[in-house]
Order: sequence, then structure tokens, then C-alpha cells
Amino acid sequence: MDERDEDRTGAADDLFQRTADLARWLVERDRLSPVTPPPSPEQLRAELDLSLPAEPRQEGEWFDALREVVERTPSTSSHRFYNQLFAGRIPAATVAEALTALLNSSMYTYKAAGVHTLIERRVIARLCELVGYRSGGGTFAPGGSMANLVALIVARNEAFPRVRDEGGAAAAGAVVYVSDQGHYSIRKNAGMLGIGRANVRAVRSDHEGRMIPSALSEAIAADREAGRTPLCVVATAGTTVMGAFDPIDEIATLCERERIWLHVDAAFGGSFLLHPELRQRLRGVERSNSVAWCAHKMMGVPMPCSAILVRYAERSSSGSGASPGGEDPNLLRRHFNEAADYLFQQDEADLNLGHESLQCGRRNDAFKLWAAWQALGDRGWRERLERQRHLALTAVARIEREPALELLHRPESLCVCFTVSGVASDELCAELSRRGLESVGYGLVRGAKAVRLVTSNPEVTEGEIERFFDDLLAVADDLRRRGGAAAATTESVAATRE
Ligand SMILES: Cc1ncc(COP(=O)(O)O)c(C=O)c1O
Repeated sequence: MDERDEDRTGAADDLFQRTADLARWLVERDRLSPVTPPPSPEQLRAELDLSLPAEPRQEGEWFDALREVVERTPSTSSHRFYNQLFAGRIPAATVAEALTALLNSSMYTYKAAGVHTLIERRVIARLCELVGYRSGGGTFAPGGSMANLVALIVARNEAFPRVRDEGGAAAAGAVVYVSDQGHYSIRKNAGMLGIGRANVRAVRSDHEGRMIPSALSEAIAADREAGRTPLCVVATAGTTVMGAFDPIDEIATLCERERIWLHVDAAFGGSFLLHPELRQRLRGVERSNSVAWCAHKMMGVPMPCSAILVRYAERSSSGSGASPGGEDPNLLRRHFNEAADYLFQQDEADLNLGHESLQCGRRNDAFKLWAAWQALGDRGWRERLERQRHLALTAVARIEREPALELLHRPESLCVCFTVSGVASDELCAELSRRGLESVGYGLVRGAKAVRLVTSNPEVTEGEIERFFDDLLAVADDLRRRGGAAAATTESVAATRE
């Protein structure tokens, strides 16, 4: 080793050490400290120099710049973060994600990704098995919204075989159905695909936020009557606000009768398939044509980790696998395949996953899920879900004990929606965050703002759930008093005017 090599090794050791120290600090902060209210943009602009320098900075300098940013980033792994559908982290998955950045593979070819291609195939096969697809495949997309996009593309291209070559006009009149609780990505994707946002029907849901099949049936009939083509029904397994599950089995019967593609948006609730009882909420999912499933939500894998799974026609007894028209039975490859001589050159065509994905260069999202599975096993996933569900039920029990709180539904998953008497939910959430106590969000339940507590982090204790409610009730009292004081001041001003 010459002197320069030694210097380089020393510098690398130093960088690893600093990174490890910063990571340790971060993990400790998440464990100990309450919610860090995000500094205002003005404060951040004043405190940090976020400009892009013209000249290189020394390692110590740029590392400090990184540290300053890390220190000011809101924590999503704190035990007081109940704000989103994701929370917490699984160490094995986090380490795998860091290694993924070091490896910097691209999943498009076997040549570039090697063993990770086999891992992705293995993970997708397991997810398909959990869904109950006897023949199927899938890919990873950058998030649940994009997974839903892939499903809509395949559904559209299957219904309108000319559209891929000839363009959107070949799919005129197509209509998509999703419940009024469904995720906004369905509308957004329809807009991007040329189906049109106006051609997405918001099907009525019941009191618990589940799609009403008879309302779906009526909507389909009305569109057929008007000469339109029902293209795809999106059933949601775990709605974004209430965490409700649409009745997939009933919807599947309708879709089979009407010959409509059934996509299940299980971005949030797909993980329930890992539990023998909870999976009943998705009864009938094996009858769907596609499923979007995010492991970065309740499975605690770093973002993004979104699989789109597609059911393929089962192979004939001769094993040929080709559909009657001689088309590729792999529906993803059928609709995403392109030739690119410079890229797809190897014999392992079946392992060049770029033939089946939205993207060209594609990050590796399978390794971290595979790593989490190594650490947890099927049993670990089951236990996590039980814990997460137990925390949701702990919250429900507390709400039912408190006269000032009203539970708005019977929570089917990890979302618990409630209101607090005399206090606006949005103000309450903002004040809890401002005081650095708890991070929780609000959503609309039957048109009114409700606090939505999500128990995605299984590391949270029952005591921490109780403390959440103690904080919430104390802040609500303050807001009521302040509101009362403000109302009294307004009244006295009005009285003086009179
Ligand atoms: C039901 C549902 N589908 C899709 C998505 C979109 O997922 P992503 O944020 O990964 O794009 C969400 C996000 O919350 C969701 O709740």
C-alpha cells in the first residue's frame, strides 16, 4: 500500500465512523425525544446554507452540512409519530437499504443486478402466493400510486388491445370505478393515462367506509346504458383515512359477471395477508386481476417498497403457457416490453426485469423487504401485525372511556378516527405538533374533520398510547379555554360596541 492508498483508507474509515456516529445519534433521538416540530421555512433558510457551491467543499465541511440537515429533519420513527400510514423502522431493512445505496444496482438487467434479480423474483413470487395467484408475476414501482398506475395501464391495454400502439383514442369511453374513500392516485392516474379524471366514478361507501356493491352495480349499468366501456374496478383494501376494506369477494363476483378488470389497491392493507385471521378482511383477493401492495406502510420497510402483482392466465396442461392468440402470458412483459439493443443483450431474457417495468434504470426495492423477512420470518410479520392491531384496539378502548372523545367507526385496521368535543380536529393536531408533543393528522370522515391516529409502529407501548391521549385531552382543554376566552372577548367587544 503506498501513501496515497493509506490516506484514502484512513479518510474512508473516518467517513464511516462519522456516518455511524450520526446514525447512532439519529436512532437515539427517535427513541428519546418527542416530536420535533418542523422549523418554519423562514427559520430553515436563516439557519442553513442550502445553496449549491461552485467549488468543492472539504469532507469535514460537507459532512457538517449533511449533519445540519439531518438534525432538522422531522422524525417519522419517534414513538410519538402517528401521523402517516408508515412509522418506525426495521433494522435489517434499514441496513439493506443503506447497502443498496452502496451497491447501486439497477434492476433492469441480470448483468447489472445479478443476485438481486433472483431476490426480486423470489419476493414477488411469495407475495403472489400470499394473494393466492396460482400464476402471476409482478414488479416494484416507485410507490403505491405508481403501482396503481401500472395496474391501470395493464387493465386498459388488455381491454383495448390497440391502445399501446395507436394511442388514447383507441380507448375512448373507458370508465374506472373506485369508492369515494379510494386513494386520489386513481383519479390522478386516469388523468395521466388519457382515460380522463371525469371518467372515474366515486362509488358510494357505507358508514364504515366500505364500497357499497349495489352502488357499484348501478354505476356500471348506467355507464353501459350510456354506451361507455367499464374498464376497471378498484377495490381498496385499507382505505387511506378509515383503514376500511371494501368487500372484495362480492366485488369480484360483479367484475367476473361484467368481465371487468378488478384491481385491489392494497397499498396499506395488503400486509394483513401475512396474518391467518386478519387476511380474512381481503377475502376474494385471489379472484382479482392485480394487487398493489406497499411494504413501506405497515411493514416498516424504508420507502419506497411497492409491489404491483398481476394474475396471469394459468398454464395449459401442455405447459405451453402462451395464450390462445400466442401472446406473452406475462402481462407485464406484454405491455411494457421494448427492444433496446444497447441494454438487453444477454441470454437470460427472463431475468432482464427491465422488460416488465415502468422504468428503465430502476432502484432495488426488493432487497430491503427480503432482508426484513430474513430478520422476522413469517412469524415475525404475524406478531408485528398482532401488536399493531393491539395498539389500535388500546386506542379504541381509551376513546370509549373518555366522555370528551367520539369514535367515528369500528376500526378494521390500524387507523382510528375520532373527534374531540368542542375542539376542531385540525387545530388540535396543529397544536399538538407545535408544542412538540405528538404528531398526528386529521382526515375527513363522512365530510367532517376527524383526528386519525395510525398505529403502524409496533415499538410503541400501551403506555405511550395512553400518554398520547393524556396530551391530546390536556391540549384540547387548553384550546377550549382559549376558545372560550376568545369568545368571551368577542362578546365583550360586541357588548361595548352596542
Ligand atoms: C390506499 C392507498 N393507495 C395508494 C396510496 C399511495 O401510496 P404511495 O404514497 O406509496 O404512492 C396510498 C397512500 O397513502 C393509500 O393509502
